[in-house]
Amino acid sequence: MSDSTASATATMPRHLLSIADLDADLIRTLLDTATQMQDVQRREVKKIPTLRGRTVINLFFEDSTRTRSSFEIAGKWMSADTINITGKGSSTSKGESLRDTVMTIDAMGVDALVMRHSASGAAHQVAGWVDAHVINAGDGTHEHPTQALLDAYTMEQRIGGLAGKHVVIVGDLTHSRVFRSNVLSLRMLGADVTVVAPVTLMPSGIRAWSETDGFALSNDLDPILTGDRGVDALMMLRVQKERMSGGYFPTAREYTVGYGLTRPRLQRLVADHPDVVICHPGPMNRGLEISADAADAAQSLILDQVAAGVAVRMSVLYHLLAGAEGGAA
Ligand code: CP
Repeated sequence: MSDSTASATATMPRHLLSIADLDADLIRTLLDTATQMQDVQRREVKKIPTLRGRTVINLFFEDSTRTRSSFEIAGKWMSADTINITGKGSSTSKGESLRDTVMTIDAMGVDALVMRHSASGAAHQVAGWVDAHVINAGDGTHEHPTQALLDAYTMEQRIGGLAGKHVVIVGDLTHSRVFRSNVLSLRMLGADVTVVAPVTLMPSGIRAWSETDGFALSNDLDPILTGDRGVDALMMLRVQKERMSGGYFPTAREYTVGYGLTRPRLQRLVADHPDVVICHPGPMNRGLEISADAADAAQSLILDQVAAGVAVRMSVLYHLLAGAEGGAA
C-alpha cells in the first residue's frame, strides 16, 4: 500500500455499520484503495501479507452467496485467517443469544466480525458488545454498506465520476437495505438519484428523507427512463419475496409490466441512452424484476459488481484492520 493510502486511514471509523459512518472523502479513499486491490485480484498469485496474523470471522445469520464468499476471499488474499460461522451451524440453534454468541467469539481474540443478520440494527448492537471491528454485511431492511461501495466502484469504473450523473433505482424499496445504503453513498458522491417503486413498496417516511437528502421519487418508471434528464445508470432491485407477508402487488406479471426491466423496456432504454449501465445487487429474480435479456446485456455490470465486491471488501478490511494500526505491508 502507498503511504498516502495508509495515512488516509487515520479518520476511518472503528466499525463500518452504515454509509453514514463515512463521508465523501472516506468513500473516495476506500474506492481508491479498491483500485489497488483489484490489481492484486488480476495477478496470477493473489496473495499479499497485509493482514497476516489477523483473524476475520464471517458470522452470517442469513443466507448469502456474494457477500460471504467475497469477504472470505478478501481476507484470504490478504493473508488473514478467515472463519465462517452460520446461524444454523452455531449454538444459536440451541438457544444461545446473539449477545452471548458474539461475546464468545470475541473472547477468542478475533480482529473483525463481518456480520449479517435479519434484524435491522443488529450490527450496531453487536458493535457495542465486542472489542473486534464490526462490519455490517446486511442488517434486515436497514443497510448493506459494502454493497453500496462496490456499486459505486463498479459504476465509476464504467461511466466515470458519479457527480452529476443520474442514477435510477427501481423496485422493492421497502425491503431493500441496498437501496438505503446506495442513496446515502450516491448522494455523498454527488449523483442525482431517482427512486422508483409502486406506492405499496415505498417505505414509510421516504418523502421526508428524500427532501432531506435531495433525491427524487416516482411511482411511474417509463417517464423517468424516457425523460429529458436521461439515465446514466439503472439499478434494479430484487423483489424480496421472503420478507413479504402480504400482497404488495396484484400479480408478478403486473409487477413486471410496471416495474421490470423487460426486453422491450431495455430496447427503448438503450436506443435512447446507448451508454447506460445496468446494475443489480443480486441475487436476481430473472423474469420478475429483470429479464434475461437485460441481465446478460452488454450494458449489464452485474458480474462486474460481483468482481468488485472482492476488491472493495479487501479495501474495507485493510482500512479497518491494517491501515490505522500500522499493519500494512
Ligand atoms: N448482494 C448480496 O448481498 O448478495 P448475497 O445475499 O448473495 O450476499
